[in-house]
Amino acid sequence: MLIAQLSDPHIRPEGVLYQGVADSNRMFSEALAHVHALDRCPDLLLITGDLVDEGRPEEYAMVRELLAAARIPFLVIPGNHDHRDNFRAAFADQPYLPREGPLHWCVDDHPVRFIGLDSCPTGKHYGHIDAQGLAWLARTLAQDTTRPTVLMLHHPPFMSGIPYMDMYRYMEVQQLEDVVRAAPNVELVLCGHVHRTMLRRWAGTVVCTCPSTTTEIDLQLDPQAPPQSHIGPRGCMLHLWDEAHGMVSHVSHIGAFEGPYGFA
Ligand SMILES: [Fe+2]
Repeated sequence: MLIAQLSDPHIRPEGVLYQGVADSNRMFSEALAHVHALDRCPDLLLITGDLVDEGRPEEYAMVRELLAAARIPFLVIPGNHDHRDNFRAAFADQPYLPREGPLHWCVDDHPVRFIGLDSCPTGKHYGHIDAQGLAWLARTLAQDTTRPTVLMLHHPPFMSGIPYMDMYRYMEVQQLEDVVRAAPNVELVLCGHVHRTMLRRWAGTVVCTCPSTTTEIDLQLDPQAPPQSHIGPRGCMLHLWDEAHGMVSHVSHIGAFEGPYGFA
């Protein structure tokens, strides 16, 4: 099974640029075209939050218009820039999304089990899942302790070292860690939010964050560093799973590069 992951497209209404500088809508279309042009078509597309920038219905209308071009089934979770009810309304045709409450879900009809978590408290930019959500996660994980399972949540459950991102990190991570550590079959925890690729061993599994299709948050580790981003390099993640070899994750950059050359 090949799983493509796009993240943080920050779609805007038609004709509006993200942060006044980046054509996030065009870039999302380019990311979809990139996924479609791979030499093996992914079986599934995951989108790990911040589908839009301001949570507005006209932004979600644009997301759906752009996603109409997708030739791959997709699963979505919200990010801190999404609006829970507008998100739910925009994706009302997605049968796995609950009709009320936080947007936690489980999709069981693939060789890999997918669990989506809503780590976005209303009106906040940091990440957190309340006790009820964690109890749901514990129950859901306990229902199948053998099939390889991928968890998705927007906020990575660790300190990145980038000060302006850590202000909005996942808070009170220990309770989530305890629930995930109790499950023996979580292959990967997939996140967005940090607009960069990061990896961390955590809770007996591996956390992997995905680049944004729109802007890259700069890698600055000085505690006083001000928020800063660049347009590019953009990318997506590809997670290749089979029963014999397990899960291998690749970064796939979006854009034109020199080559190809006939050597490896
Ligand atoms: Fe984002």
